[in-house]
This record gives sequence, structure tokens and C-alpha cells, in this order.
Amino acid sequence: MTVADKEHDARTEPAATATMRAIVQREVGGPEVLAIEEVPRPEPGEGQVRIRVAAAGVHAVDTDIRRGGGPPSMPQTALPMTPGREIAGTVDAVGAGVDAGLLDTRVVAHVGFLNGGYAEYTLAPAAALHVLPDPVPFPQAVAAIGTGRTAQYVLESAGMQETDVVVIPGASGGLGSQLVQLALSFGATVVALYGGEAKRDVVDRLAPDDERDAARFIALDATDEDWPRHMTAVLGDREPSLLIDGVGGATARAALETLGRGARVVIIGWSSGDAVRIDTDDIIARSLTVTVPLGRRIAQLRVIEERALAAVADGTVSPPVDEYPLAEAAAAHAAIEQRRQQGKVVLIP
Ligand SMILES: NC(=O)c1ccc[n+]([C@@H]2O[C@H](COP(=O)([O-])OP(=O)(O)OC[C@H]3O[C@@H](n4cnc5c(N)ncnc54)[C@H](OP(=O)(O)O)[C@@H]3O)[C@@H](O)[C@H]2O)c1
Repeated sequence: MTVADKEHDARTEPAATATMRAIVQREVGGPEVLAIEEVPRPEPGEGQVRIRVAAAGVHAVDTDIRRGGGPPSMPQTALPMTPGREIAGTVDAVGAGVDAGLLDTRVVAHVGFLNGGYAEYTLAPAAALHVLPDPVPFPQAVAAIGTGRTAQYVLESAGMQETDVVVIPGASGGLGSQLVQLALSFGATVVALYGGEAKRDVVDRLAPDDERDAARFIALDATDEDWPRHMTAVLGDREPSLLIDGVGGATARAALETLGRGARVVIIGWSSGDAVRIDTDDIIARSLTVTVPLGRRIAQLRVIEERALAAVADGTVSPPVDEYPLAEAAAAHAAIEQRRQQGKVVLIP
């Protein structure tokens, strides 16, 4: 059943002939392989809904998959395909066995390996849907459902305390920006590292409004080799107790060397292409605990998604988003690959 059926609109086009615009990837390669095409509009099967997409998330992993790579934990995607796993929009049709009361509802979903989000319409299992509270805009909902849930999980598994001083490289990125805001909400002191002047504004916007809380936020340009000295000038005797690193390379290595004894290192990625180098001498010298919380099966994923959405709804997190029109998916991928992203990259059909 569709919204049009529900409204008894006799002029509705027969579903079988309806088309939509979608990004289609027919071969692996550079961003240019992402082309906009007119394709058949999908019909929901049993247990599925069709969503009229209002915002679709673009993930760094989408760029790896497009180039023919991606983490070993992900199945190789068969081509042609439409990328996109983080989707927000309005339910526009329901398949067999799905409550028609969902029609016209604002929803968000992470559809796992199903893909199809870079499109005007997409399918999602009804079981994956979260009904969106009114105040949450679609792009922010997209930022919460995948990247936000990762941020929640990472901080929970890091055992974040309000006494922590946490260093977060890549604070301008989709995940880094939410980690910063969440860590601040835990009461921690946050050292947010960003990659050059062009990223400064987006990181400055993460600062808490309250003046006392703002004292717990230290934003530093990691392309300035002196950043550790600037950090110490603010922190005084306090040393960082936690490094949450998704960047790796020289920045992460410099951050590692600022850590105090007994600090924790949480590795969540290597957007520089080179995971942070740590050897046993580092671990022994600083009594470090090193963990990699991602890449394993996460129990209670839906509960974590709910927490991520609630954090956006109550204003704890207001994820910066970098919006591109659907037809410019190639430019959105290029921005991620050329390190020009400002927060979570989102496509708007
Ligand atoms: N988003 C998720 O749900 C998720 C889940 C699991 C793992 N991860 C991992 O977490 C890390 C961050 O993810 P994300 O979603 O925040 O990615 P993103 O939006 O693409 O941001 C990555 C950030 O890394 C920094 N960076 C530093 N050197 C870079 C380089 N050479 N190339 C590209 N970026 C560079 C950039 O910040 P500056 O330019 O300011 O330095 C950039 O903003 C990645 O390693 C990703 O694989 C993310």
C-alpha cells in the first residue's frame, strides 16, 4: 500500500512504470563512476517499507567500496549498485505484513549491507526504522543513525569519565565532531585536533555555549607541529588520559606521545591511510591500554541507535552536516577523499 492508495488518489501512476532518480555505480573507479540515472522505483517486499528519501548519509567506507576495497568485514558489493546505508525520509509505501499506520511517518534507518540510499526512494526493513521526533531534521538524523551510534558505542566502550582529558584527532569529520560533543556532555576535557585553517570554523562550532563548559574545550590545529606545546600551556599539570584515534599517521603519533601514565588508546580507524604506530616500548613506558572496539559484533545496536537519536533530539549533540545535492554524489565522495569534508557528508535528493 502507498500513501497515494491511502489518499484514494485515482491519478496515481501505476507502480510498475514509476521511475526515480538514483546514483548508479556500474564499475569500480574514481568518483566519476557515480552517475545519476532514471531507474525503476523499487517496490517494498514483505516486511519492508519504501522511504521517500530526504537525506542519505555518505560514509568514508562508501569511497573505499567505490574504489573496489572496503574492510574485510564487509561483503564485496555486486555491481551495478546504488550506495547508501544511512537514510532518513518519509514512509511512502509499505509491503505485506507491515502496519499501514507507518505511511507518511518521518523515519530514519541504517540498512546495513542493503544499500540503495543515494536515491529519491529506497527500501528498508520495517524492523530497522526509528520514528523521528519532530525537532530532529533529516540530515542530522542521518548523521546520528550510523556515525552517531558509532560515537556512542566508542565512548561507552572507552569507559569515558568526567575526569578524562581526551584527545580526538579528525575533530572536523563526521565521527570526530560527534565524539567531541558527546565527550563534552560526559563532563570530560576535550582536545579537538583539526587539519588546518579551513577546518577551524566547523570545530569551533563544537564549543559548548556555557562559559564554564567552554573551558573544557581546547581546539588545536594539528598541522602546527607545536600543538602539543599549546595544549600543555592550557592543561598545565594535567596530561591526556585518553586518545580516541580515527586518523593515524603523524598526528596520532604526536598525540600518543602526549599521553600520561595509565592512559587508554582507542583505535577506530586510519583516515590518513596509516594506523597509529604503537609498539610494546610505548605501552610499557606509559602503562597504556590499547583497544580496538570496532569490527566486532555489537550487541544492543538498536538501543545504541536510540541513544544516538535521543542525543540529537535533546540537543546534547548537534552534528555538523555537509550537504550535497543527490546528483553531486561524485563531488561528495571527492570531498571526503580530498579531506575537504566539514562534518557528516549528506546527500539531499
Ligand atoms: N563514521 C563511522 O560510523 C565510522 C565507523 C567506524 C570507523 N570509522 C572510522 O573513523 C574514522 C573517521 O570517520 P569519519 O566518518 O569521521 O570520516 P570523515 O568524515 O571522512 O572524517 C575523517 C577526518 O580525518 C581527518 N584526516 C586526517 N588526515 C586525513 C587524510 N589524510 N585523509 C582524510 N582525512 C584525514 C580529517 O580531519 P582533518 O582534516 O580536520 O584532520 C577528516 O575530517 C575513519 O578512519 C573511519 O574509517 C568511522
